[in-house]
Amino acid sequence: MLKHLFQRKSRETLSCEILNSGFAFDLQDKATILQSAMNAGVTMAHNCQVGSCKECCCKLIEGDIKSHVELDYLFDKEEIEAGYFLPCQSVAKTSVVIESLKDFSDTDGYATVSVESIRSLTPKIKRLTVRSQKPIYPKPGQYCNLMLPESGEYRSYSFSEQDDIEMLYSFDITHHAAGRVSAHLLSQAAIGSEIKVSKPHGCFSLSNAKGPVLCIVAGSGQGAVMNILRSSKETLKHRPVFFMCSTKTMSGQYSKSDIDELNQLSDCHYIPFLTQAQPNDIQTQSGYTRIGRIPLQLKQELSKLLEQCSLSSDFEDWSVLLCGAPGLIDDSLTVLDDMGFRKNHIAFDKYELSGG
Ligand SMILES: Cc1cc2nc3c(=O)[nH]c(=O)nc-3n(C[C@H](O)[C@H](O)[C@H](O)COP(=O)(O)OP(=O)(O)OC[C@H]3O[C@@H](n4cnc5c(N)ncnc54)[C@H](O)[C@@H]3O)c2cc1C
Ligand code: FES
Repeated sequence: MLKHLFQRKSRETLSCEILNSGFAFDLQDKATILQSAMNAGVTMAHNCQVGSCKECCCKLIEGDIKSHVELDYLFDKEEIEAGYFLPCQSVAKTSVVIESLKDFSDTDGYATVSVESIRSLTPKIKRLTVRSQKPIYPKPGQYCNLMLPESGEYRSYSFSEQDDIEMLYSFDITHHAAGRVSAHLLSQAAIGSEIKVSKPHGCFSLSNAKGPVLCIVAGSGQGAVMNILRSSKETLKHRPVFFMCSTKTMSGQYSKSDIDELNQLSDCHYIPFLTQAQPNDIQTQSGYTRIGRIPLQLKQELSKLLEQCSLSSDFEDWSVLLCGAPGLIDDSLTVLDDMGFRKNHIAFDKYELSGG
């Protein structure tokens, strides 16, 4: 029997039925089909949420969708004809009936963990550390869904530190005053309380290219990318790493002691970008601080860095990691494409609104 998970209906509300699951739910305006499913509490198979792993792949049986990614990059002709598409990259134009290609499960193997500590990294970002009863084994760059047991609401957060021996796991979380999950997770009252954690998801990681590494991050994306760099220390020996970090003001950048671990990499260049610099930021800015958005200055900045480090302008063997706000990532990808960076050496994680 169909389990209908419908919210308040407006006249135009579209819906999605997943044939082989017994679930049907409302589609939210502008949300992808995966986001609407998660918001309705239906855990469809998914992993990266950015259209690269194909884990969420479904077949369209009825209705019409708009895909944010070109289907012919992802599927062959027969698959497209059969209706294959990615719910994490598609919005519905009409009500749809789809079929999941994975075994359908409405559980995500949630485990119970307890909140060990909450530490402020910036005025808006805090590091939440949880203790688990058994190792979670995330790969650096992966995320999991943290769920409040009372309400069942959950959001995705990337691992910023992990210790499978001590079974301690950290997530750098931006506090949104109106955030239904972040505000709860980060309140001091949460310390000692129990929350639920899903299995790790995602495939955000450093490519196997051997050249310099460019990191473009914003806000709490700093933690996830530092986690990847920390775990790749050996492979990064003697390779320049350019760490560009976008925040509104200098106070949004991690503190010197948190950034210092970048200096343990052999040749790391930390370049803060401030989009709403305050007079104080401008007075105290180091020679490296830039004012403005990264995508607008990326070409110019890279050409200065190439000259400074005596590097060639061939970007074929560079690796790129992008993490944070979707706008920063999309605009940076356009510039990188134009400059000749190879698509398969670029990995990104977009911190879109998540959860249900
Ligand atoms: C794969 C993935 C990994 C992620 N990893 C992280 C991570 O490591 N750290 C992290 O902080 N977030 C991360 N996010 C985003 C995170 O999952 C939540 O969407 C975010 O924390 C909002 O949840 P909330 O409970 O704060 O707000 P919600 O209850 O979802 O939203 C309530 C209101 O808060 C405000 N708000 C929420 N998000 C934003 C925003 N980004 N900008 C401006 N206003 C906002 C809006 O007013 C919104 O209407 C990730 C998202 C994805 C998809
Ligand atoms: S392609 Fe949709 S979750 Fe990875």
